[in-house]
Amino acid sequence: MSLQKILLQFEPKPENLLPALKEIQKENKYINRENCLKVAKYFSLPLAQVYSFASFFDEIKLKKSGKKIIKVCSGGPCMMKNSTEIVRQIELLLKIEAENDAHPKYKLEYISCRGLCDRGPIVMVDEQVFEKVRPEMVDDIILNYL
Ligand code: FES
Repeated sequence: MSLQKILLQFEPKPENLLPALKEIQKENKYINRENCLKVAKYFSLPLAQVYSFASFFDEIKLKKSGKKIIKVCSGGPCMMKNSTEIVRQIELLLKIEAENDAHPKYKLEYISCRGLCDRGPIVMVDEQVFEKVRPEMVDDIILNYL
């Protein structure tokens, strides 16, 4: 879907900026400067404001990444449901370290609460969301979605 078609799904109101950016990212994997410019024009905002807004949210990517990004929620409720063990399982399986950018193919990140606490622990592989993840599910998720 073209950027213009995506934007037309949203009224150009400030509360629609984040949903519009997420939708654009779904199509394009990241939001480049040119698309940021078009978003700014559509919402009648300065480019710097859109850029700064987008960079505030860790789920909005402003640069192309060749890596598969695995994210594990580190919010309190997910931590209470053993998300730390899930991180450890992923680290062991992929031989990576959370928040370390050294691996050429994978990156494991902590993310803040996604508002899905009752369905936690939450794991995301790129934009795919996995809910109620248990440590014994990690191998299947990683092997099927990477
Ligand atoms: S703490 Fe993980 S979704 Fe809320």
